[in-house]
Amino acid sequence: MSVWAVLAAAGRGERLGSDRPKAFARLGGRPLLAESLERLEGSDWIDFIVIAAPAEWEEPAILLAEELGAGKVSSVVTGGASRSESVREAMAEVADDAAVVLVHDAARPLLPDEVIERVLAPLSEGWDGVVPGLPLSDTVKRVEGDRVVETLSRGELAAVQTPQAFLTSILREALRDDVADASDCASLVEARGGRVKVVEGDRRLLKVTSPEDLAVVEAWLEPS
Ligand code: CTP
Ligand code: MG
Repeated sequence: MSVWAVLAAAGRGERLGSDRPKAFARLGGRPLLAESLERLEGSDWIDFIVIAAPAEWEEPAILLAEELGAGKVSSVVTGGASRSESVREAMAEVADDAAVVLVHDAARPLLPDEVIERVLAPLSEGWDGVVPGLPLSDTVKRVEGDRVVETLSRGELAAVQTPQAFLTSILREALRDDVADASDCASLVEARGGRVKVVEGDRRLLKVTSPEDLAVVEAWLEPS
């Protein structure tokens, strides 16, 4: 039973404001993409990797994989207009006999192997998908413009991260829908009535969005 990983790295990184796509912004002297790629390559849970790269950045992604000796990378595809469309493009390169697929944001460079293990395990217990989530510390309100409409019950909420794991056939089906507005893959599976489990996430999986986030993740990098 082979496990495939899809690495979504095709975003522009507009909020980071670098002179290059976010996956190639510098983190600890290397492209940000190197961090998650190296961790997937080194994980005993992962057999093959497909990278969705920004247009014009496919070649640098291939070269980076070669430099890292990332032999699990089976292909690099050109991403789409949205995250889910990039995942859809990458899924086209995932083998038909792949039982399970793990989808991860390159924007979350620090990928602990324990989390990979945590999201994969429940797939053999009847779940269609598994996401890592963390409790919220802030109070969350629904707003319309500047007016507060409702205060949500914090105990019922989780901040959800990647990697997210799915039965391959379920994710493929879900990606046939109109996916442009989906901010994660699990929401597509949920929308079709799929059973998605939440397991404990990890603070280190912070998504690099702004320059401040990049500085935080850089400080968390283990000295090499
Ligand atoms: N992503 C992707 N293809 C897209 C858009 C996003 O593969 N068309 C990926 C990004 O590379 C990132 C992840 O999805 O790893 C989460 O997206 P986000 O953090 O929003 O990254 P960007 O879209 O690059 O950033 P921004 O929204 O600031 O432009
Ligand atoms: Mg984005």
